[in-house]
Amino acid sequence: MNDTPDQPAKPARSHGRIAVRPTLKPRELMTDRPDLAKAWTARVITLLPQAFPGILGESLTGKALDEGKWQLKTYDLRDYGQGRHRNVDDTPAGGGAGMVLRPDVMSAALDDALEDAKGLGRVIYLSPRGRKLDQQMAQELAVTDGVILVCGRFEGLDQRVIDHYDMMEVSLGDFVMTGGELAAQALIDATVRLLPGVLGNDASTEEESFSDHLLEHPQYTRPATWRGLPIPEILMSGHHGKIAEWRKDMAQEITKQRRPDLWAAYCAKYGIDPESA
Ligand SMILES: C[S@@+](CC[C@H](N)C(=O)[O-])C[C@H]1O[C@@H](n2cnc3c(N)ncnc32)[C@H](O)[C@@H]1O
Repeated sequence: MNDTPDQPAKPARSHGRIAVRPTLKPRELMTDRPDLAKAWTARVITLLPQAFPGILGESLTGKALDEGKWQLKTYDLRDYGQGRHRNVDDTPAGGGAGMVLRPDVMSAALDDALEDAKGLGRVIYLSPRGRKLDQQMAQELAVTDGVILVCGRFEGLDQRVIDHYDMMEVSLGDFVMTGGELAAQALIDATVRLLPGVLGNDASTEEESFSDHLLEHPQYTRPATWRGLPIPEILMSGHHGKIAEWRKDMAQEITKQRRPDLWAAYCAKYGIDPESA
């Protein structure tokens, strides 16, 4: 391992669209996407800023990004690297395979992101060791000002920087990916679609999977018969009360069969005996 003073250069960075708040920072004024006042903001520290907005620039999240309903800013970790080669990693203390992201390099990027965020927003490290991303987490994050997301690479991030910034570790699931970028995009997508006005129809988030500890009921559309298989008759009846009841029954049945953990939480919430229901 080698050690060098942490004096990385301050780079330019940014994603995010329509200009509504001029800022006095010269480097910000030089980008085509200045800060948007009050928009939910994802600040992403990554070695692959070109991977953003990626899928987030498409469809509903992309439209909402264009409309300034949320904004995305990337911080290229390489710009904060050490020396001529802008090194961001070093060998693991104690030996072992791979490389570890340096705390001094990451903290320089984080301090920049935190300064831009005016201290608002949770610092999240995408990590297989973290709490699993779920709908409840997305709902909690959607009512904040935004997030600062740290995407790891190699063997991950020096523990000291995780502890120092009291990062919340969030996992996409029990598997290991090569970097945190896909997990960051999943977290942003799940959160942004819950922001006001992004889906256009708020009822669609109320009824979907996980909204009340239940998985969603089956969905059907035209044609009324496909390969000899009809749409369940009740859905064609026009009787809204009975349709709602059928959907709830189906949601309960599917949840009970597939996700005993969710079913137990649902039963506890509504005082239902999980065995008799
Ligand atoms: C190869 S992984 C490092 C894995 C680490 N050595 C371990 O065993 O836990 C590199 C980076 O990918 C990201 N990553 C990998 N799997 C992930 C997951 N399931 N959820 C969130 N991020 C993940 C993390 O940011 C991690 O630092």
